[in-house]
Amino acid sequence: MSFIVAIDGPAAAGKGTISKAVAAHFGFAHLDTGLLYRGVGKKALAYSRTSYYPEVAEQLARELTADDLLAEGLRTPEVAQAASKIAVIPQVRSALVDFQKTFAKQSGGAVLDGRDIGTVICPDADVKLFITASAEIRAERRFKELTNSGQNVELSQVLQDVIARDARDASRDIAPMVVADDAVVINTTELSIEAAIKAAITVIEAQRSQG
Ligand code: DC
Repeated sequence: MSFIVAIDGPAAAGKGTISKAVAAHFGFAHLDTGLLYRGVGKKALAYSRTSYYPEVAEQLARELTADDLLAEGLRTPEVAQAASKIAVIPQVRSALVDFQKTFAKQSGGAVLDGRDIGTVICPDADVKLFITASAEIRAERRFKELTNSGQNVELSQVLQDVIARDARDASRDIAPMVVADDAVVINTTELSIEAAIKAAITVIEAQRSQG
């Protein structure tokens, strides 16, 4: 039987870490849907300026392979911005829908994290969480992650990037990042990662025991 946990929210709010921990706790499969957009964004950067044309970007999305999702360099700020840019193209989003829906319905349970999981990909998810935090704390966390992985970045630039990406992700016409009506919001600004994971598990446990 399937059990779907949809986890949405802005960049660097803790969705990825929470999603992985929740999936491990319940023995569910996990899909970081941002990786799909990053995979297409990375190809778009490598391709040419025309890669932001809808038809070209759609083709790049349709040609995405599992290897593309394991490629190096998907976590750079440049690829994050490119991902956010190609994510506004409706044809790109449509090309990625079936894979995500099929992943969600697998027996044994699935956690998907992204921007439109609870609203578009899995509107009937068993549990919907929206993980958020202030832009400043998210930029600090992303700055630490990037510098720990050896990337040379400025905190002020990371903050600007986070704000620009939030604005683009939340204002696009198709599948914008919004809180689903029936989502539980977890604000991690003042929470340790352990406390945030615990909060997410508590919400899911409650739903499972009802279901
Ligand atoms: O979650 P992330 O930071 O890896 O996502 C990178 C970009 O991909 C994000 O800025 C917008 C896009 N994205 C999206 O539009 N929809 C999703 N479900 C996941 C990511």
